Amino acid sequence: MEAAKIAPSAMNAQPYDVWVVRSPEKVQAIRDAKSSFNGFIDNVNLFIVFTDAPYSNGKLEGLAEEMQIDYRTQDIGESIAYLTLQAKDLGLDTCILGGFRIDQVKKALGTDAHIQIIVAVGYATEGYKVRSKVRKADSENVRFV
Ligand SMILES: Cc1cc2nc3c(=O)[nH]c(=O)nc-3n(C[C@H](O)[C@H](O)[C@H](O)COP(=O)(O)O)c2cc1C
Repeated sequence: MEAAKIAPSAMNAQPYDVWVVRSPEKVQAIRDAKSSFNGFIDNVNLFIVFTDAPYSNGKLEGLAEEMQIDYRTQDIGESIAYLTLQAKDLGLDTCILGGFRIDQVKKALGTDAHIQIIVAVGYATEGYKVRSKVRKADSENVRFV
């Protein structure tokens, strides 16, 4: 959580809430909200959920409007990058989950806030082989201009 919270955000607005879901009933409710391709989370006992929070930094609100950018998704992306790398460093495994039934998660948490992303935290199945990384070639998506 320290790593997640130390992540940078636009104008340091930190416009999100972080929910540590650990009570058995809530954990079950998040598992039940999974999309069809995320069956593996039935064994997960801890989820971290990120929801949007309103901008409380008036300056940023104006700037976001002027730039026509809502920085919240990027800020949350930064935070989960920190969180997942730190978790690995601590010997834990994670999976970022974008596939979930948003209304069920809202209901489980008792919030109307927009659910952005869930991170499953735990330990990979014993013997789980980390798949090799497949990424686009630089020629496809790196532009030198
Ligand atoms: C925003 C986001 C949402 C994701 N949602 C899921 C998900 O719902 N289920 C899942 O198994 N992986 C999910 N992932 C993991 C990606 O599928 C994975 O990072 C990608 O396929 C590349 O795999 P690799 O990092 O192992 O190379 C998500 C990743 C991100 C960044």
